[in-house]
Amino acid sequence: YVVDKGNHRHFMEKEIYEQPEVISHALSHYVDFAENTISTNAAAIDFKAASGLAISACGTAYLAGLVGKYWFERYARLPVEIDVASEFRYREMPLSPSQAALFISQSGETADTLASLRYCRENGLKIGAVVNVRESTIARESDAIFPIMAGPEIGVASTKAFTCQLAVLASLAIGAGKARGTVSADEERALVRHLAEMPRIMSRVLNLIQPQMESLSRELSKCKDVLYLGRGTSFPLAMEGALKLKEISYIHAEGYAAGELKHGPIALIDENMPVIVIAPFDRFFEKTVSNMQEVAARGGRIIFITDEAGAAASKLPTMATIILPVVDEIIAPMIFSLPIQLLAYHTAVFMGTDVDQPRNLAKSVTVE
Ligand code: AGP
Repeated sequence: YVVDKGNHRHFMEKEIYEQPEVISHALSHYVDFAENTISTNAAAIDFKAASGLAISACGTAYLAGLVGKYWFERYARLPVEIDVASEFRYREMPLSPSQAALFISQSGETADTLASLRYCRENGLKIGAVVNVRESTIARESDAIFPIMAGPEIGVASTKAFTCQLAVLASLAIGAGKARGTVSADEERALVRHLAEMPRIMSRVLNLIQPQMESLSRELSKCKDVLYLGRGTSFPLAMEGALKLKEISYIHAEGYAAGELKHGPIALIDENMPVIVIAPFDRFFEKTVSNMQEVAARGGRIIFITDEAGAAASKLPTMATIILPVVDEIIAPMIFSLPIQLLAYHTAVFMGTDVDQPRNLAKSVTVE
């Protein structure tokens, strides 16, 4: 890897556009494309015998873990305990050596994540590290290293590391499901085929949505607050969208589970706060649309991130609708990450902030 910006204005932009390529690298490490099977080499972690999985991480890596929780529970029927590392390390939660543990960290040096790892080790759990930097402390102290193969990530706001973490977690969850007999050989092949389509779809989507993201960001840059909503795996994505926007544009944003809307945040809805609704046409779609209706009824301005089927199914008025291709549920979080990243990026560029080095932030937080 040559670490320069190439033709891009910022490392973050370069890293966003690198995703089709690096996701391909990540997948080739976990997928046998000739057989359409998962080959994770995870001998050190016995997902088959595990009674549960503990996951911990910080920031964006934590949000990747949260998507992973949905996958491990759904595909491998493995109960997942997940928390941000700064809470995980002090909660004194009872853990059993029959559980496995995964720590997700781009840098592999995050202090709280490392402390959580050591807590699990003291409790006799086998440790897996989902890291970008293979020579890192977290990788060194683990029983199994699951590299995300994203290449150096320079932008403080994590983009390609997030989608590569997701690709690896999806592969591990399918692999765990296979080992536990909850994913059949046919299902495995079908899921792997969907994973294999991902790089091509990502390239297409990046080209497709770029102009719309740029013009939309002008609108966003005028706002003081933005609310992101999603259900299922789109809920962690909503939080990731809000985190990205906060980090680089300094606009206040919150990510909420769409179903929580009426338990508080609905009070914020007015014509000044855009609500970004992330809703692929999946089994949660109708529910999310009914939350969207509640926003529309109160004069809220909706930015609807959906797919072709979702756009056809909803007739609600929106400020903008971003239409992605219909993709399988297993790859939707990675594909839907792209508009979220580009929206934050262009908003920050438009506002003239220091995109790669936002104020007050460090790439790797090695102190508590
Ligand atoms: C994401 O955009 C962040 N800057 C931040 O939340 C980051 O993901 C977090 O600090 C974790 O870092 P790590 O992956 O290197 O452990």
